[in-house]
Amino acid sequence: QGTPVVLGIESSCDETGVGLVRDGRLLGHAVASSMAEHARFGGVVPEIAARAHVHVFTPVVHRALAEAGLRMSDIGAVAVTTGPGLSGALQVGLAGAKGLAYALGVPLYGVHHLAGHVAADTLAHGPLPDPCVVLIVSGGHTSLLLVRDLARDPIVHLGDTLDDAAGECFDKVARVFGLPYPGGPAIDRAARGGDARAVAFPRPLTGPRDDPYAFSFSGLKTAAARWAERHRGQALPVADGAAALQEAIADVLTRKAVAACTAHGVGTLVVVGGVAANSRVRALAEERCAAAGLTLRVPPLKLCTDNGAMIAAIGDLLVRAGAAPAPLDVSIDPSAPL
Ligand code: KG4
Ligand code: ZN
Repeated sequence: QGTPVVLGIESSCDETGVGLVRDGRLLGHAVASSMAEHARFGGVVPEIAARAHVHVFTPVVHRALAEAGLRMSDIGAVAVTTGPGLSGALQVGLAGAKGLAYALGVPLYGVHHLAGHVAADTLAHGPLPDPCVVLIVSGGHTSLLLVRDLARDPIVHLGDTLDDAAGECFDKVARVFGLPYPGGPAIDRAARGGDARAVAFPRPLTGPRDDPYAFSFSGLKTAAARWAERHRGQALPVADGAAALQEAIADVLTRKAVAACTAHGVGTLVVVGGVAANSRVRALAEERCAAAGLTLRVPPLKLCTDNGAMIAAIGDLLVRAGAAPAPLDVSIDPSAPL
């Protein structure tokens, strides 16, 4: 009777996430991360990530159910990320999801990781307005999307990064600055005492003849490395470098996102993905959306980074839209296009 409880599973990278959603409401979720195990390699090691998912999968399902006060038999559908992501990592989540769906005799939904990131915001702020522009900024993606009905209409890709993702840029520059991994939060913290105007980092692809919705961050990484190089033998003013880098990234991201809204006559900008947690990205997005008369939606931090609740959220939307479930022989799609 009524709408089923959807169990969502996310395992595309280093987070094992499980969430439970019903009727647009988050009932409970749990996340385990293998981030610490990758730290000394400076990036996610696929084999380590896959093993970690196997290790924690069942306990994370248990924790999510306990937090929601639900039992296994309350699950009415299972949704799982099938891509894009690391293939070994995705395989673990999909195998677990198939096992649960088969054993419980409930439908299985294979979902796109980015559609999950978009859906995350519905758990915090209710249904998304149709249309809206979504800026997805994470360690793997930097995309501007035009979203209509998430469960029914295809997402329109307005633009992407031509090279590194914004989060990747944070992570790589942090390494150059001698800051710990993951670099985004480390740069955010380091920037607190810094002066963003102390270094003039470029604003890539913001010229009049550049693609208004394309991004490029590899040049920023090079500029940051050159700046660090110039201080060889002296103490590096990390706070200034971090503040300036953060300012450059936040400036480019928010400028293009607001331009996309204006050009498409869209009144709402949604910013999701790990980099949406960045304090300067948030502040500048607020400032510029207010100036342009746009509504800004940014989900709370725990829903911004990879998690299972967002996968349950898109699963719940699909269930309620009457979408067809996936067959039990569905495969992963590590390089899934949108
Ligand atoms: O969405 P997410 O958890 O995973 C995917 O990549 O899909 O995003 C992780 C990325 C990392 O690159 C991390 O450095 C970045 O988000 N990040 C941040 C902040 N918190 C996380 N970047 C800038 N500032 C932050 N506060
Ligand atoms: Zn993600």
